Amino acid sequence: MNKLPVNYYKPLSVGAPAPFRELPVRLERMIHFVPPHIEKIRAKASAIADQVDVVLGNLEDAIPADAKVAARDGFIEMAGNTDFGSTGLWTRINALNSPWMLDDVTQIMSAVGNKLDVIMVPKVDGPWDIHFMDQLLAQLEAKHDVEKPILLHAILETAEGVKNVADIAASSPRMHGMSLGPADLAASRGMKTTRVGGGHPGYGVVEDPGEDKNQPRRFFQQDLWHYTVARMVDACMANGIKPFYGPFGDFSDPIACETQFRNAFLQGCAGAWSLHPTQIDIAKRVFSPDVDEVKFAMEILEAMPDGTGAVMLDGKMQDDATWKQASVIVNLARQVAARDPELAKAYGIEIVP
Ligand code: GLV
Ligand code: MG
Repeated sequence: MNKLPVNYYKPLSVGAPAPFRELPVRLERMIHFVPPHIEKIRAKASAIADQVDVVLGNLEDAIPADAKVAARDGFIEMAGNTDFGSTGLWTRINALNSPWMLDDVTQIMSAVGNKLDVIMVPKVDGPWDIHFMDQLLAQLEAKHDVEKPILLHAILETAEGVKNVADIAASSPRMHGMSLGPADLAASRGMKTTRVGGGHPGYGVVEDPGEDKNQPRRFFQQDLWHYTVARMVDACMANGIKPFYGPFGDFSDPIACETQFRNAFLQGCAGAWSLHPTQIDIAKRVFSPDVDEVKFAMEILEAMPDGTGAVMLDGKMQDDATWKQASVIVNLARQVAARDPELAKAYGIEIVP
């Protein structure tokens, strides 16, 4: 059960900033994960921020239990000492039922609440998890004079979360978006895999038998994540928030990573996680629209200046609906161009500083 419309945009604490009515427009092609307990990584934070759209200090899974406090302290130090410019600063806190979560949130909000953009919340099962974070953050924003609302990003990584995905997406104006968490989700669903994202050689379809039943038949691998990504995209976009592919764990297979990211991009996702430096360029390539596609989309917009009617371009019918598709691509290209002068040139988009 969600809030009444009249209460939806009210701050949840006296002195907390008013929630955003619309998500701030930001390019977030890759959410780059860093382990903040490692000093060498913290020292490179500013160089990393120059290369990515979002830097995320990870406190949850992959951080050993005996390094949880060092990771939290390291994140606070890194956030305080680094100028992130227009690059987003996020953290992934520990799960709501863990012994570290409360200190993660209270200490980070007190020390660097005015530098933080988004908190990623793992293992969200339903809107109640977001309501809890919503209220807690409003209290902490008020207490520490945080000027803009901290946004929440849910990881979709439990069977219950997928069942409740639409309610999670609609749970609060603090919602920024959602990421698929294929590793935890696989375990939660009882999938018989041992991977972090991507396909599986056993999951697919086989072609029909020919006349000769002994002839070998071709097998086509299918995308294990298609159903979940599609549900996530609809839940997010229907609520004006952003869907993301999450992690791809096989760093030795950049082709599979790029293919999985591209499926997500074409289905509507805004970005993916980069867990390894090599995945930054993959995400940049995939989640920046293709130059030829952008040029064709611009032709559509030019051919239909008021967005209505029907015209033929290259033998293909264009109408109000393709005009809207073209607008999605051109709007994204403008955001990319504002961050990337080389792509701005390739797209033919002039950036006025
Ligand atoms: C990410 O957190 C995952 O479980 O895949
Ligand atoms: Mg997980």
